[in-house]
Amino acid sequence: VTSPIVRTRDELRAALADARPGFVPTMGALHAGHLSLIERSTRENAVTVVSIFVNPRQFSQAADLERYPRDLARDAAAASAAGANLIFAPAVDAIYPPGFATTVDVGPLSSRWEGAARPGHFQGVATVVTILLNLVRPARSYFGEKDYQQLQVIRRLREDLALPGDIVACPTLRDADGIALSSRNRRLTADGRALARAIPRAIAAVVATATAGERNVATLEQRGTEILTAPGVRLSYLAIVDGDTLEPQRELAQNSRLLIAADVEGVRLIDNAVIVPPVR
Ligand code: PAF
Repeated sequence: VTSPIVRTRDELRAALADARPGFVPTMGALHAGHLSLIERSTRENAVTVVSIFVNPRQFSQAADLERYPRDLARDAAAASAAGANLIFAPAVDAIYPPGFATTVDVGPLSSRWEGAARPGHFQGVATVVTILLNLVRPARSYFGEKDYQQLQVIRRLREDLALPGDIVACPTLRDADGIALSSRNRRLTADGRALARAIPRAIAAVVATATAGERNVATLEQRGTEILTAPGVRLSYLAIVDGDTLEPQRELAQNSRLLIAADVEGVRLIDNAVIVPPVR
């Protein structure tokens, strides 16, 4: 049985009353990665709310928004089976009513990397997450580490605007071939998937090079870039950065993160990993 679905701000308020739930915000197209967030929330909270809202403000290209997979019946069933107690599936004007005029901008954290490639993307994410956290008033919200820059933007946002609840980061789930689970991956053909495997291979090569003793970021980036220089793979960036500020680094440090974005068959794929400096 599917859990109740509410569609308006008032219905959500009425359904939640004074509950401080666990919250898993999504854009639908749920996969095992989302379900692991929902399952974790059900272990840590008496009530779990899942939102399903394809947020038009975080798409910089109309075609990408258009093509984004939507299947509310399937998603609601999957979320319910994973333990969600309430599903919030608002229409666009329930989130952005007529006259809506506010944009939330988290500053430099949102202008680099994905932000540079997709202007306005993180402003759209920050705006909708602010609205959702204020409506749901969760005790805890669950976000995947797969979207690492998004996670950092949201941590900063919550801190700066005193939004309700803790932000809980959850590890990336991967398929057997190493590719991170994502709702966009399903658009890849078998050939595209084979090409996309260069991403986890590049991560493994950078990790191995660091483990073998290399600390110089340019050398490590070069190693990963070699693997992603292949016909059919359009590398957008491969960078080792400070895991909090996302600023580039020269030398590996305790909080280094490798960020990768590449396009395969017109599908944008992103991934990231901790890179631990070698023991001296
Ligand atoms: O990660 C996502 O699915 C979206 O960016 C989010 C956080 C639900 C905001 O629309």
